Amino acid sequence: MTVTTTAPYQDPTLGVAERVEDLLARMTLAEKVGQMLQLDARDDLDDHVLRRHVGSVLHTSPERVLRAHELTARTRLGIPLLIAEDCIHGHSFFEGATIYPTQLGMAATWDPALLERVARATAVEVAATGIHWTFSPVLCISRDLRWGRVDETFGEDPHLIGELALAMVRGYQGDGLTDPTAILASAKHFAGYSETQGGRDASEADISRRKLRSWFLPPFERVAREGCRTFMLGYQTMDGVPITVNDWLLNDVLRGEWGYTGTLITDWDNVGRMVWEQRVQPDYAHAAAAAVRAGNDMIMTTPGYFEGALEAVERGLLDEHAFDDAVRRILTLKFELGLFEDPRRPSPERIEAVVGTHGDLNLEVARRSVVLLANDGVLPLAGGFAADDDGRAVAATDARPAKVAVVGPLADDAQTQLGDWAGSSGQAGWIADGHPREMISTVLDGLRAHVPAGWTVTHEQGADILTLEPHPDGERFPDGQPRPPVVVPAPTDDDAIAQAVAAAREADYVVAVVGDRIELVGEGRSTATLELLGGQVALLEALAATGTPMVVVLLASKPLVLPPAALDAAALLWVANPGMQGGRAVAEVLLGLVEPSGRLPVSFARHVGQQPTYYNQVRGQHGDRYADLTQRPAFAFGQGLSYTTVEYSDLRVLEPSLRPGDVVRAEVTLHNSGARPALETVQVYVSDLVTSVSWADQELKTFTQVHLEPGERRVVALELPVAECTVVDGAGDRVVEAGDFELRVGRSSRTEDLLAARFTVNA
Ligand code: NOJ
Repeated sequence: MTVTTTAPYQDPTLGVAERVEDLLARMTLAEKVGQMLQLDARDDLDDHVLRRHVGSVLHTSPERVLRAHELTARTRLGIPLLIAEDCIHGHSFFEGATIYPTQLGMAATWDPALLERVARATAVEVAATGIHWTFSPVLCISRDLRWGRVDETFGEDPHLIGELALAMVRGYQGDGLTDPTAILASAKHFAGYSETQGGRDASEADISRRKLRSWFLPPFERVAREGCRTFMLGYQTMDGVPITVNDWLLNDVLRGEWGYTGTLITDWDNVGRMVWEQRVQPDYAHAAAAAVRAGNDMIMTTPGYFEGALEAVERGLLDEHAFDDAVRRILTLKFELGLFEDPRRPSPERIEAVVGTHGDLNLEVARRSVVLLANDGVLPLAGGFAADDDGRAVAATDARPAKVAVVGPLADDAQTQLGDWAGSSGQAGWIADGHPREMISTVLDGLRAHVPAGWTVTHEQGADILTLEPHPDGERFPDGQPRPPVVVPAPTDDDAIAQAVAAAREADYVVAVVGDRIELVGEGRSTATLELLGGQVALLEALAATGTPMVVVLLASKPLVLPPAALDAAALLWVANPGMQGGRAVAEVLLGLVEPSGRLPVSFARHVGQQPTYYNQVRGQHGDRYADLTQRPAFAFGQGLSYTTVEYSDLRVLEPSLRPGDVVRAEVTLHNSGARPALETVQVYVSDLVTSVSWADQELKTFTQVHLEPGERRVVALELPVAECTVVDGAGDRVVEAGDFELRVGRSSRTEDLLAARFTVNA
């Protein structure tokens, strides 16, 4: 007879539910409370694991992951840790991983299938390094461009956000959690976090439930229903209630209406913030009790939750079984990931084989993320080139070699090009110098490597952007988190400008790479202004005055307000933070080796005072402009040029009289009337002409991308279920209201870019 000491929870032949119940029954109160905690692995890891019994850690350097596993092996029950990290455009803080354009940059591709591939490739790299959970994607809606986290979003449109977010969730989670390359996705920040006051990060979101249901919740509902395994809760309060304890949002809507069975995690110290920041709880015991009662599963980085929750039980604020549901959900994830059998430690072989190996995919995304906003014909440079086998432009033998002056503070700033949540952006200390320089192609690198033989590329910086001063209130917030220093615009440097001007005068083209820096981006780093800071505007003005054709490459985390020197330049491109291959992608577009195809996922303002400038605003106001300025944005949602012209004509709704269960079927003819190929994003908006409540004049409902060869004419079939043509009525219900609608189809959200055709929905 064999004697086995294996407890049922350790037996992989048993079902997950049975194992969970067995383990739960063995856990002490302290172990359950600890299981709900996720603490920062950069702090006292031994204490986290051995004394506070944490269920998860985040921000783990490659060395500390190993230490975390060693410590876990010493615990009584040996419950494996969930290891989490913000891998939001690649494996952000793993040296040498592939870093893609930021989420906003990726959104400019308008290509869900491409983003699914990015998330899949990211998961493959991340999983190899022993990380199980990424805090991505972000489903917040960017409406106030002053907010410091616009770069982390997919832009301003709920439909586009939903499509792209779902694609990334699928990519991360792969074929299911048993797949060793799958990682948990997290939809964040649920919900309304971006609706700030004055753009100030994590401030009260003044937002009604109807407005939430209209625009902010739909992308989250999609990923909830499609199995995104975790949701992260926003920092802010709404109507006075922090999301962490918002019973309506968490229980009535998410768990109730949407039937969500996944795991909820707070954002950073949400529980502590209720005590020391928002001051809606008197102490940690009450804060912990409120968070547990509201249905939170994992508490991120509130170490005091441990003592607070135990005290809450002692003081009768919580029953000792109050933690069971949360712990069940966390353990279920761990069993489903198979961590009890294989804790998915870092694999040196897989790291060697996969980390940093997705350069081709990265290049494809970076190319697709470039948005051409203006072009007087200067681009592609010298009429454009074909590429040789190495990707270098090939000029006709009799063509005159040209000289390109590449100037600007961001022309050769490798780490800035990667943007926030990458390498040296500040969240992780262990790669302070950022990602390997040789993996990153700046615009200067890209042009040097890809101009035709015989061309000359010169370089001048021309301007600085900013300097930093210590924050007058000290370097740390009350919770010990670093307080960002104060940004001071750099003075204009006349000598540097003179050198740039001299280079421009000697050149046939000047490529000016301007934008923002990491110090102006991210959490707690909203900006009051949107202008190009430091010496950049003076530099552009001086360059424009030389008369040398100027291409402005705006390498900016978010839309900025551009000066006339940029708006009137011969050409203007926006590339967000384009990732490791960004410089090469820009160079290829400039040289016509690649066609520009990106489209704006977010509008550009003309002036910071125009905020907000999103396209789908609610109808109704006196007049349509400011007394002293138009309300029109500088560039609207959906805009973006090709190197050819695509004409739209003959929009027809095939059967214009419809019932709510029908599908709107339409056709539109596209004609590439220019000499170069195009990847055209056909955008389909719907306007409900009369609604029972005020509503957006038009909303993006679907889109499709079409390749067109020069001269090609194509009839594109469009389909849209009538069920998508909804409003949220006065009672808060999403409904299709009978009446007349306009289908608007074209190249951007601007009225002048759209054809319209009517259809009627009959009750
Ligand atoms: C706070 C941020 O708001 C959130 O997006 C991130 O995932 C967590 N910190 C963890 O780093």
